[in-house]
Amino acid sequence: MTQTTIHTRQGLPPEMQLLLRDYPRDAWPDHPDFAESIRNWMGAHHMFRQLAGITQKDTEKMMDRTIDPAHYADRLAHFGTLLVRNLHGHHGWEDHSFFPELNAADPRFERGLDMLEGDHVELDDVLDRFTRQGNRIVQLHQLDPDQIPEQAKLLHGLTKEIGLFLTRHLRDEEDLVVPILLHHQLRG
Ligand SMILES: [Fe+2]
Ligand SMILES: [Fe+2]
Repeated sequence: MTQTTIHTRQGLPPEMQLLLRDYPRDAWPDHPDFAESIRNWMGAHHMFRQLAGITQKDTEKMMDRTIDPAHYADRLAHFGTLLVRNLHGHHGWEDHSFFPELNAADPRFERGLDMLEGDHVELDDVLDRFTRQGNRIVQLHQLDPDQIPEQAKLLHGLTKEIGLFLTRHLRDEEDLVVPILLHHQLRG
């Protein structure tokens, strides 16, 4: 059986590409059923990648001491909270509403949807560790700002982990989901 864990997966497993072969990514934008709601959903994915990129780049600046610690802590509180809160909301909706709808429309992809739900569980874990370390840094802003650059190093690994995770998860999720939506005209 194909490896499905996010930690080793190289893409959407071949047995889950049944519809992707008929609806390749390049052809999505011109497809008549590529609806506004699908664009919006992919737009949310784009926003997550951007937010993750901002927190990672800011953290690198803090490690290089090219950003003021107070400014860094403010931005981390703002963008980090947006990232975590919006991802939790997005995944909750996918798990409880969107994926069951897709599964009802085409039960052939149940295993793929289960794989994506498994990714969400893994992501919750890294987001929790990111939140704890991020909060520590934001509190240091009041207590001991000199410690922030050192603590930023610990956060950096987590921002990289989140970035890699999102790259894999969002790509595979779109490759599984968009062809189902187009094939069954679910949002057209
Ligand atoms: Fe997801
Ligand atoms: Fe998603």
